[in-house]
Amino acid sequence: MQHPSSKEQITHWQGLIRQYASYLPVTDTTPIITLNEGNTLLIKLDNFVRKIGGEFDLYLKYEGLNPTASFKDRGMTMAISKAVEKKAEVVICASTGNTSASAAAYAARANLKCVVLLPDGNIAMGKLAQALMYGAQTIAVDGNFDDALRIVRELGATGKVEVVNSINPSRIEGQKTAAFEICDQLGRAPDFHFLPVGNAGNITAYWKGYQEYHAAGIVNARPRMCGYQAAGAAPIVDGQIYEHPETIATAIRIGNPASWQAANHAIKSSDGWIGKVTDEEIVEAYMLVAQTEGVFVEPASAAPLAGLIKCVKAGRIPEGSLISATMSGHGLKDPDRAIQCAAKKPIKSEATLEAVSKLIGL
Ligand code: F0G
Repeated sequence: MQHPSSKEQITHWQGLIRQYASYLPVTDTTPIITLNEGNTLLIKLDNFVRKIGGEFDLYLKYEGLNPTASFKDRGMTMAISKAVEKKAEVVICASTGNTSASAAAYAARANLKCVVLLPDGNIAMGKLAQALMYGAQTIAVDGNFDDALRIVRELGATGKVEVVNSINPSRIEGQKTAAFEICDQLGRAPDFHFLPVGNAGNITAYWKGYQEYHAAGIVNARPRMCGYQAAGAAPIVDGQIYEHPETIATAIRIGNPASWQAANHAIKSSDGWIGKVTDEEIVEAYMLVAQTEGVFVEPASAAPLAGLIKCVKAGRIPEGSLISATMSGHGLKDPDRAIQCAAKKPIKSEATLEAVSKLIGL
């Protein structure tokens, strides 16, 4: 076999900072902490669309294929690189699970101490395993995400720790690259972009990305931004803080989002909307996309798909539209919920050809 030339060696994907450096607040001397995140697949969901009675093209941005299996890696490569650049020693975040997994991984790679504050008992098992495995100091707070973020903000104000939640602008910068990639992959901007909304950093980031690509003349339009919250945690939809947010989509179990205003701005200026979906609607979409497309998302990622189903029923999506949706986290993050929802147990069998044949009706 021939060895690749040195040119080929350096043209493989090396993470989103190197790919989109000219759009990011980095210089030639910024240390780049990367796990080669980004460049995720865009998957067309024809079966799903047919099943829900839509007549449009739907592409899912498969962010569960990032190194820690969620979109957070895009923001974290930036936040941790900037933390190293400013010689921070400790990074900290509050999290419903994915931010902490990502922060812990990138901090490990940068040899930084990482502290994560999680709402005790409301973290999907895969995410907790990640924080522990990557070696973060993991603190289970007797409260919800909003309580944890309040404490993290106060710790950040001491100047002794670097906060890597999306209140850190570097996070938004990194996450906006998902919008760049969608435009690059489609060769144009979509008409609508659907995504889940929790702390509201990602809707803010996507809108920033779409606007920047439009301003740079790379695309000639911008999508309408369509965000979805869980009905039990819908502060932006209802215009009021939820003191006790509740939903099975634990990733978006947030009652007082940090980027509330920026999210409202994105929705207004893109002529989009924000809606809410019940846990039942989330579970329906969660199962449907897995069973019609082989795409296993975590419950929060199914919220915008549930929203899309409602929009189709309401006749809100014009025929022939081009829609993108963020599959924000991988389904394997939350195996307990998946097994519970699938509601099917493996069928036990004797280890014989006859017994198995009988079971499958051959
Ligand atoms: N989807 C998943 C899988 C998430 O983990 C999150 C947020 C969101 C959607 C919502 O994104 O907060 O930018 O509006 N997770 C955060 C965390 C809060 O701590 O992992 P957002």
